[in-house]
Amino acid sequence: MKKIAVIGLGYVGLPLAALCAKKGFSVVGLESRREVVDVLASGDSHIKDAAVERLLAEANSSGNFYPTAVIEEIAGCEIFLICVSTPVDGDREPNLQPLIGALESISPYVKRGDLIVIESTVFPGTCEQIVLPILEQGTGMKAGTDFQLAHCPERVNLGDLFWTTENIPRVVGAITESGARQAAEFYASILGGQLFDVREIRKNLRPKFALVPDGYSVKQIPLGSVTMMRSIRDAEAVKAMENTVRDVNIAFVNELAKISDVLDLDVVDIIDGMATKPFGKGPFFPGVGVGGHCIAVDPEWLKTASKKAGYMPEIIQLSRMTNNGMPGYTVSLLQDALNDRGYPVKGTRVALLGVAYKRNVDDLRESPFYGVRELLEKKGAVLAVYDSWVESENTVSSLVSALSGAKAILIVTDHDDVVSELHEQDLRKHGIEVVIDGRNCLDAERVINQGVLYRGIGRRS
Ligand SMILES: NC(=O)c1ccc[n+]([C@@H]2O[C@H](COP(=O)([O-])OP(=O)(O)OC[C@H]3O[C@@H](n4cnc5c(N)ncnc54)[C@H](O)[C@@H]3O)[C@@H](O)[C@H]2O)c1
Repeated sequence: MKKIAVIGLGYVGLPLAALCAKKGFSVVGLESRREVVDVLASGDSHIKDAAVERLLAEANSSGNFYPTAVIEEIAGCEIFLICVSTPVDGDREPNLQPLIGALESISPYVKRGDLIVIESTVFPGTCEQIVLPILEQGTGMKAGTDFQLAHCPERVNLGDLFWTTENIPRVVGAITESGARQAAEFYASILGGQLFDVREIRKNLRPKFALVPDGYSVKQIPLGSVTMMRSIRDAEAVKAMENTVRDVNIAFVNELAKISDVLDLDVVDIIDGMATKPFGKGPFFPGVGVGGHCIAVDPEWLKTASKKAGYMPEIIQLSRMTNNGMPGYTVSLLQDALNDRGYPVKGTRVALLGVAYKRNVDDLRESPFYGVRELLEKKGAVLAVYDSWVESENTVSSLVSALSGAKAILIVTDHDDVVSELHEQDLRKHGIEVVIDGRNCLDAERVINQGVLYRGIGRRS
């Protein structure tokens, strides 16, 4: 079995390394954070996610997974999977430093015939214009002939128990056709799915309903399949654009929520109604804001690449502004609701529930929590912050302490455990008079029936 190096053991690299080990490859996981390596070496996961923990346990029992912070350990590897972060900097511009650093550090270990795959999300053109020259200079070899360079963007949906590293369909592109095939065959071997050429998808596989003699069938892209794109740029663009499509659609439903507010509609009912139409995409849902390392970041990369190439995509810019404005919108709902009940924001205790950017994960990156907290602190609210998945920002240690003495609740993250513990009938007992449901996760009627002022994002109240 081939020896694989996975560079960066974060949310993406750890489950990928574990999957490769489970499938029988000998895997060296290179991670620059020593504390992470220590946790992994002891057999534990530093990532709180049921799917990741399960895969890691399987990798550990296979005996094929070796986490390390020592670069020399990657010597002899034949496949290099780069999974370092690709964030944006303070000006929302792409920060390529982690990627460049990883490429420079692996270059001395790349040999003739090896395969290097970038899994990190990058803007179209990055692999050819930035990655390739660094690798050619560092290795002294020619990409495409001496070694292969491919891109296989990760699509894993953290916190999702169904769509995991083990089954999410992938796309692959490379700088040569033989490189694309080599990479695609490798991914098909770990995912166990079918291999497709992108030219087949439109004709045969794009999800669609079809009439068959005894009714209808739905064609689906099979689980764990790998689709070869025509180029490495196309593979880069698939990822950047699919996340941008999502961001723009979320921005749009956030607009629908605001429209629903002024037209006295309940946007959740409307979206549920729209979701019954069996074709078209979605549903997407409005909320307190878009976070995470993908949807809040990838559109910025795409926008920058497009702007540099001469076209400013206004709709991406507008969507980012809309989604970045949602924490402010949510805080204004709280301010108005408290005002209705005769309380100023200043000096009023507010239970701020949730720090993570989405439910049932411990990932804080780009979380709307930060915008909400900053605005409420500026206005002088007294905050009781509680997240059941991640403790770093908590000011209280339980949901009950967060509610105690609070006049209002503002939900940033709808973690299942917190939502199920928030019993509507107990709200008044805790003295809660206002609930701002930033995730539209509560039963509005039941909250209102308790005499509590309920405001969701675009919900009739
Ligand atoms: N998080 C997700 O759900 C998700 C989903 C799909 C795609 N992605 C993309 O995957 C990439 C990785 O994201 P992530 O969430 O796993 O990031 P992460 O920050 O969780 O993990 C990256 C890891 O790489 C390590 N690292 C950085 N430079 C290194 C080096 N030179 N050598 C060894 N280790 C190094 C970091 O210490 C960190 O642990 C990003 O491009 C992201 O956009 C993420």
